[in-house]
Amino acid sequence: MPIRTVATKPYGDQKPGTSGLRKKVPHFQQENYAQNFIQAIFDAANANAGGGDGRTLVIGGDGRFFNAEVVRIAIRMAAANGYARIVVGQNGILSTPAASNLIRKRGASGGIILSASHNPGGPNGDFGIKYNVGNGGPAPEGVTADIYTRTKTIAEYRIVEEEAPDLSAIGEHRLGDSTVEIVDPVADYATLMETIFDFDKIRAAIAGGLTLRFDAMHAVTGPYAHEILEKRLGAPAGTVLNGKPSEDFGGGHPDPNVVWAAPLVDLLMGPTAPDFGAASDGDGDRNMILGRGIVVTPSDSLAILAANAHLAPAYRQGIAGIARSMPTSQAADRVAKKLGVGMYETPTGWKFFGNLLDAGKVTICGEESAGTGSDHVREKDGLWAVLLWLNILAVRGASVAEIAADHWRTYGRTYYQRHDFEEVDAAAAEGLMESLRDRLASMSGQRFGSLIVQEADDFSYRDPVDGSVSTGQGVRIVFSGGSRIVFRLSGTGTVGATLRVYLERYEPDPARHDLAVEDALAELIGIADSVGEIRQRTGRTQPDVRT
Ligand code: G1P
Ligand code: ZN
Repeated sequence: MPIRTVATKPYGDQKPGTSGLRKKVPHFQQENYAQNFIQAIFDAANANAGGGDGRTLVIGGDGRFFNAEVVRIAIRMAAANGYARIVVGQNGILSTPAASNLIRKRGASGGIILSASHNPGGPNGDFGIKYNVGNGGPAPEGVTADIYTRTKTIAEYRIVEEEAPDLSAIGEHRLGDSTVEIVDPVADYATLMETIFDFDKIRAAIAGGLTLRFDAMHAVTGPYAHEILEKRLGAPAGTVLNGKPSEDFGGGHPDPNVVWAAPLVDLLMGPTAPDFGAASDGDGDRNMILGRGIVVTPSDSLAILAANAHLAPAYRQGIAGIARSMPTSQAADRVAKKLGVGMYETPTGWKFFGNLLDAGKVTICGEESAGTGSDHVREKDGLWAVLLWLNILAVRGASVAEIAADHWRTYGRTYYQRHDFEEVDAAAAEGLMESLRDRLASMSGQRFGSLIVQEADDFSYRDPVDGSVSTGQGVRIVFSGGSRIVFRLSGTGTVGATLRVYLERYEPDPARHDLAVEDALAELIGIADSVGEIRQRTGRTQPDVRT
């Protein structure tokens, strides 16, 4: 079988961000752009993780525009780079958590996941390529740095002459010296969920009148949700909304938050609200949780799931610990303290949870950006969070609002909001962060309105497992009483810079658990603007998105 070695030139701009390489589709369509990055992945995998020869590789993506084309290229390149078995989701589809599961289940040395997560798709939308390693999780920083270095000097890539097999044909196919195995993208994942949760209890609760809606947002989770929620758990047809995946996500942003999933939020706030509502994103790793009349913030959801996880069979023995990304609210910390288990604060991005999960230090992880997951895979997992909530609802027989209110009574309430300023001039955004860093030392003890700064720093993290250090992960300003403001720049944007401001106020007094979030956070919002010099440096008076 002829392997072609194709001469290519480096682009120099293929630096992976928080979750892989993300660019606009036309950028990705440049000659050999995807090929360069994929070859760099294989070369780095060979050098770092014992990659290539004789190993298994998983390939799949969220089905967005350009997905199938790159899947076919990746298959042909994997065959030319010595992978013995290439496991591919049918039609090139795999949700991110399902890909993580397949990598683990098949003992693969890694996987290539094609997705730009919650970013819009289509011919002018976003596209992305990410490499996951043998534990099923995103490649650690050492590996992504090596991939980037290789893209800067790449001179050739390898690809087999022959075309990739028909992606719809489930079963084994030969390609060069490799076996390409096309699998049902849903089956293994659905089976895994059945081992974690009490499906009988959830089924009984639904049969007994628990009503729900799941918005798949025209993205990858549609088939997963139809199979699990409607077929296996018996929810009526129509439970899954927007369940047919489309290449441009129906023209919308497949981002499960109050802005982009507004119709679902309206439904849950309205007179015909079901008991439970949820949504997931483009590649199925994020989640939004709602109850009748309530949106549960991701930070609260993490805390509530951790506090109630023992109600699901897989966590019956209790959890080993909790990890959250730094900007995620401290609500989970209070749960960890009460349970007497470890609590870890990591930089933004799921890859930082991998070592903690592998070492058994934590069972449950979460990010404020609608990501929650556990040690069952090494990615965040949208449907997993939905099913854990359903399991808890089924066992407790209480409503989402009651469970949240009960949680706040026990632990205090953490009011929380994230403000995003998008497509800000990159230099202005860098300048803002630099200015904050310059002033950090002088902030401690300073009074702003009713709040006094307890400490301010630029977050850095030393991985307790491998000792690696990540610096410059965002500015934290912590006030006495547990309130916080965090500033950081996004690592996933594709245009200009996105400034994220995270606001958090701790309220132990149950008499003040019914405030409107905007009111509860008003003072902090004002402080963030003046300390961050947001208006002054970016010209923005309002964030583009509040989540
Ligand atoms: C964002 C989220 C982060 C998440 C990442 C990938 O990254 O904030 O929590 O891990 O997307 O889904 P950011 O754009 O902030 O770098
Ligand atoms: Zn995602």
